[in-house]
Amino acid sequence: MYRRNRVSPNSALSTPNSALKRQHRKQAVPKIIAILNGKGGVGKTTTAVNLAANFAKKKKVLLIDADIQGSASWWFGRSQQGMGFDLSQETDPALLSDLGKITGYDLVVVDTPPALRSEALVAVVAIADYLVLPTPPSAMDLAILVETVKEAVIPLGTPHRVLLTKVDTRSLGEAQEAKNTLTRLGIPTCNTFIRAYKAHERAALEGVAITQWRGGNAREAELDYRRAADELQRDWRK
Ligand SMILES: Nc1ncnc2c1ncn2[C@@H]1O[C@H](COP(=O)(O)OP(=O)(O)OP(=O)(O)O)[C@@H](O)[C@H]1O
Ligand SMILES: [Mg+2]
Repeated sequence: MYRRNRVSPNSALSTPNSALKRQHRKQAVPKIIAILNGKGGVGKTTTAVNLAANFAKKKKVLLIDADIQGSASWWFGRSQQGMGFDLSQETDPALLSDLGKITGYDLVVVDTPPALRSEALVAVVAIADYLVLPTPPSAMDLAILVETVKEAVIPLGTPHRVLLTKVDTRSLGEAQEAKNTLTRLGIPTCNTFIRAYKAHERAALEGVAITQWRGGNAREAELDYRRAADELQRDWRK
């Protein structure tokens, strides 16, 4: 089912070569931001959707759902009013490798599957300009995150930042400790913490981004992703 603002990247990629070159001269190539972590359930999709919604306030944004589970597509599919960005599901590694040729967008945010060796993830990480690594702050989650960084990020040298997610509001100290540990390991980490609020689960069920959520803790939950989006944009402009 294709929604009005659901697009196929193939249409942009099937442009003949000479026409593509002309388009490239006229239009800036979009920046590609991939959201990844080898572990499941850490907040990748929540981060991809909510960062895309925040970036879309000022930029033309395409969210690519490169996860065969299709969680971002499911969330987007429940939306009644749109989320301010376009979405396309694409898990073919060959097409994902060509994402950089898409025109008409300022930013492409890619949600990836929780499997470091999946061909789709490898294809996306190879062409991404910037990587965001969401992780909860627990010791076990951090151990897997550090493996992800060593295995999939450092060898490529792509700029990146960890985003601490699902942070228990009663134990912010644990998140601060996690940030200190990552800093000691030389892994850059956002100052913003994404706190754990039921609002995030409910917003997904209702098919809205957290920017559009009007229930309990709306302000706090929205503020966290707004701050994270601002911080990431400042970092990649450096
Ligand atoms: N900050 C948060 N506060 C509360 N719940 C959250 C938060 N972030 C994510 N969740 C919830 O945690 C669950 C997993 O989140 P999400 O789907 O974003 O993770 P994921 O890393 O994309 O998972 P997968 O690896 O399966 O793709 C979802 O139910 C989501 O609503
Ligand atoms: Mg996901």
